[in-house]
Amino acid sequence: MDDRSMDLGTILAELNASPAFVVGQLGQSLDGRIALPSGESKYINGPAGLDHIHRLRAMVDAVIVGVGTVLADDPLLTVRRVPGRSPARVVIDPSGRLPPDARCLADDGVRRLVVRRPAAELKLPAHPAGIEVVVVGGADGPLAPQAILDALRARGLARILVEGGPRTLSAFLDAGCMDRFHIVVSPVILGSGRAALDLAPIASLRQALRPATAVHVFSDGDVLFACDLRRSAGGEGAHDDANRALCSTG
Ligand SMILES: NC(=O)c1ccc[n+]([C@@H]2O[C@H](COP(=O)([O-])OP(=O)(O)OC[C@H]3O[C@@H](n4cnc5c(N)ncnc54)[C@H](OP(=O)(O)O)[C@@H]3O)[C@@H](O)[C@H]2O)c1
Repeated sequence: MDDRSMDLGTILAELNASPAFVVGQLGQSLDGRIALPSGESKYINGPAGLDHIHRLRAMVDAVIVGVGTVLADDPLLTVRRVPGRSPARVVIDPSGRLPPDARCLADDGVRRLVVRRPAAELKLPAHPAGIEVVVVGGADGPLAPQAILDALRARGLARILVEGGPRTLSAFLDAGCMDRFHIVVSPVILGSGRAALDLAPIASLRQALRPATAVHVFSDGDVLFACDLRRSAGGEGAHDDANRALCSTG
């Protein structure tokens, strides 16, 4: 183990100590892919990486996914692989593409929220009873991640897991709205397929995010890179270094 290796308990305890945070998670191959060109993605990570997602879910008030992930995977977004309570489920679905029978909308006693644009101009499908609709942004353009976080915080949801997919994670990262990023890399090479992230281009390597990162090797060979985006490997804020906007996690 080198001096960046850390046991998982220490990594999670540090995160758990904070009353409000945004942690992103991503499972990817060695060559930075999250799915084959066909869209097949289950499962790039091994069992330990999957356990880690459930562990993060159990630590937060709410898990966020984009509607693209719901359409591709129809995830439950519950805690099943580890002990713990399932968080509220939040889907960013600006234009009402979310199918009413999506599994994450099922009424199991957990809060379910859908983030949308102002509904006036849109014909939105009816959703099951009990769904909280969170209206953010204007008639078009991306929804500001900070506005989404503010709206969730106003509803008592302060510890947030952004679980994907790449568009959603990239938007939060580009906006400086992520405090931690847990990337689980599996020792597999896909060679083609969907890239893990697509951030705004930078002009120089000096602008790259270089977060302070702890590494944990799981028993099945998957490796967790636990990135602290508020600290760079050089000591200052990674987001500051990259000249990206800093969100307030309050
Ligand atoms: N490996 C992993 O860890 C992991 C995790 C999750 C998902 N995935 C994979 O990721 C793929 C789906 O990813 P994706 O990037 O296509 O979809 P996504 O990020 O799940 O959803 C993207 C969509 O969500 C809406 N959205 C999200 N953030 C928004 C914002 N700030 N402003 C406006 N709209 C926003 C938009 O919907 P509209 O287009 O309707 O405007 C956008 O097109 C699937 O293949 C899935 O299997 C992998």
